[in-house]
Amino acid sequence: MVTITNKEFAQMSGYIKANYGIYLKDEKRTLLTGRLQNILAQAGFNNFTDYFSYIVADKTGNAVIALVDQITTNHTFFMRESDHFYYFRDTVLPYLGKIVKNHDLRIWCAASSSGEEPYTLAMIVDEFFGKEKLYWDSKILATDISSKVLNIAKEGVYNKDRISPLPATWKMNYLKKVGADNYQITEKIKKEVIYRKFNLMDTVFPFKKKFHVIFCRNVMIYFDNDTKESLINKLYDCMENGGFLFIGHAESINRDTSDFKYIQPAVYRKE
Ligand SMILES: C[S@@+](CC[C@H](N)C(=O)[O-])C[C@H]1O[C@@H](n2cnc3c(N)ncnc32)[C@H](O)[C@@H]1O
Repeated sequence: MVTITNKEFAQMSGYIKANYGIYLKDEKRTLLTGRLQNILAQAGFNNFTDYFSYIVADKTGNAVIALVDQITTNHTFFMRESDHFYYFRDTVLPYLGKIVKNHDLRIWCAASSSGEEPYTLAMIVDEFFGKEKLYWDSKILATDISSKVLNIAKEGVYNKDRISPLPATWKMNYLKKVGADNYQITEKIKKEVIYRKFNLMDTVFPFKKKFHVIFCRNVMIYFDNDTKESLINKLYDCMENGGFLFIGHAESINRDTSDFKYIQPAVYRKE
């Protein structure tokens, strides 16, 4: 086991926070060293100083991809914080269905992990519009910083235990059995979700049009306050007036530093 010195931890954690927003307090030292052991062993590094030099010097991009895959916590599951999905279906979509121009509904799932959250949104949209869906461009942009989870999401294959929280009709309509224990998201739903790698720390959000709905759940818990507030302001700027922001229930928005209006737990609105 390669141990980390105080100086090395400060260097690594500073780099991770500056580039990915993820704030590793001192008590996360064991977590960080544990998660990086395999990379160090495979590449033959016996200290973190050499590993850090390799990361900053690597021009291929592979070193940071492997680092990001290890340092991100990608925990997610179908129907997580399910009240949000029902609010989206019962309040947000009926409202947007009436006011959105040109049938151009823009939804962004901003830390989509392995796809459970954006696919659920796509299922809800499909069910809500029914036959009218044909006339809507309501593709969901799903982004994450980790290549590993984006690849899982694109495959859209989940074990039967993972899909168990989904309502029976959605399972029937939007999943097909593959192999003994797995289910795959149908093509119809898959093509409604566009996956892209995107770092929420980027200073410029490169979206041509603003969003009507943003799900940015359970990622800000890893950020410090300044990073979180700056992200919330960027989300505000790329949100349509009247649009809805969903964050994790363990997260909150400070009314003094943001113009988002509180609607109900972990749901906010740009007025
Ligand atoms: C705990 S998961 C949350 C997944 C889902 N939103 C949910 O609530 O179940 C957090 C996700 O945020 C992603 N993430 C962490 N830092 C990020 C950053 N700077 N930019 C984009 N995504 C990031 C991680 O890769 C991870 O997949």
